[in-house]
Amino acid sequence: MKVPIYLGRGHALYGRATGNKTRRTLDLKTEEANHMLFLGGSGFGKTTVMRALIESIWSAYLNKGIAPIIFVFERKIDVSKAEKIKEIYYKESQKYSKEMLYKKYGKNTWDYIIKYVELMNKYPHLYGSPGDFAMGMPNILGKYTKWAGNNTILGYFGLSPYAFPVNRFVFRPRRRLNNIKIDNGWKTEVIEAKIKYSSIDFSFIEKLTHVGSGALHGERLRKIWNIEKIRDPDKVLEKALEWDNPEKPSRTYSRIEETMDRLKKDPLFSKDESFFKYVSNKRINVIDFSQNSDLTTEEENLIFKMIVDMAVKSAFKLKIPIFFFVDEIQHFANNPVGLSAINKIYREGRSMGINLIGATQYMAGLNKSLIEGCTHIGIVGKIASPEDLKLLKKMIPGIDEDDIGMEESFSIDEYQKMKQKNKFRGYFAYDKQYVERIAYRHPQSL
Ligand SMILES: Nc1ncnc2c1ncn2[C@@H]1O[C@H](COP(=O)(O)OP(=O)(O)OP(=O)(O)O)[C@@H](O)[C@H]1O
Ligand SMILES: [Mg+2]
Repeated sequence: MKVPIYLGRGHALYGRATGNKTRRTLDLKTEEANHMLFLGGSGFGKTTVMRALIESIWSAYLNKGIAPIIFVFERKIDVSKAEKIKEIYYKESQKYSKEMLYKKYGKNTWDYIIKYVELMNKYPHLYGSPGDFAMGMPNILGKYTKWAGNNTILGYFGLSPYAFPVNRFVFRPRRRLNNIKIDNGWKTEVIEAKIKYSSIDFSFIEKLTHVGSGALHGERLRKIWNIEKIRDPDKVLEKALEWDNPEKPSRTYSRIEETMDRLKKDPLFSKDESFFKYVSNKRINVIDFSQNSDLTTEEENLIFKMIVDMAVKSAFKLKIPIFFFVDEIQHFANNPVGLSAINKIYREGRSMGINLIGATQYMAGLNKSLIEGCTHIGIVGKIASPEDLKLLKKMIPGIDEDDIGMEESFSIDEYQKMKQKNKFRGYFAYDKQYVERIAYRHPQSL
């Protein structure tokens, strides 16, 4: 089956008059993989384009009566969005009556904005940090910002603000869950994500506690955990004691005890709770790897891999399409665990309808499989690295190096103008073969 998703407004490079921009869709094939990679310098709108694509895919599949499982790996919060909301609130309230603003933005949305600005002003240390994917909040920025003449940016694409149902998974939360919820919109449910002891591999414990399997206690623990599959700290200790002198436990035992204590005290783990239980195709699943979660890079990669493994297993069972949106994909591509998960999606996704859509600023230095494995490439704004330009030129026929490369600017003013002009615009290379200029559609959510 083909599922057409809305990409934006584009025009062919050759033969057609410039300015003649028409609606562009991309046909996704449900039984195949549709991997994509988005590239572009900082601030040109990669994250924004990814958000728009999530919405396109979510809506297009629902139209066909299929609810896909969507995972979004979020990296950053975007304080500038909160600042812009405040600005819009003040400017619009001076200009229009409340009734008129209800009409323009919708009553629910405007009431939310009033409450949100109030909270940000009263408790600036608690609120004002929406995530890059605050999809539970309608995009009032897109309704406010003018673009292409007299149109608003959303109006230009025939869209209006909308909030999407989101489950946001936070690991070892650094902030109160309710503060995170309010920052990300009323359709967000925030879940403190727990990993069940039974689903952690010994390698996870090894990295968490620096217990190497080279040491005696490490070796013993590995046997109990991975070979005997006893994955409950209390039972592990019982087992370890069997191998020890119960009258006078050895140092090996007390080391194992320390490691198990560490597991028991860590709020990331649980005996019977697993965040997998909350993963759903009724809501968009945002994996919050921003500052809201307190994780090491190693743990992020292990969790990413865990989710991919789980998804591959359930795709096989459930036969529903799965989409991984991975912003700042270099964080995973640069780590052996993360890279193995990416390659697993590339390898096994094709036959199972598991899709990987990634975004990054630079390709040079990343594992080549990342770009070789993707089906389509999107360029958002300008490419910042000359090395990447060369690579793209080699890979995509018909791409114009001068056009996609960063233009030289002779003043900061000129640079900012260039940036503004190219924001949310770029090229889309269908099957890495056919290239078109495109203005990417905007997201309805923030
Ligand atoms: N409708 C809008 N109107 C004006 N600005 C917007 C709108 N939507 C998003 N932005 C802002 O544009 C900026 C750049 O977008 P975005 O974060 O998507 O860039 P990026 O390419 O992902 O950058 P980076 O590589 O640094 O992550 C952001 O600060 C975002 O808040
Ligand atoms: Mg970004």
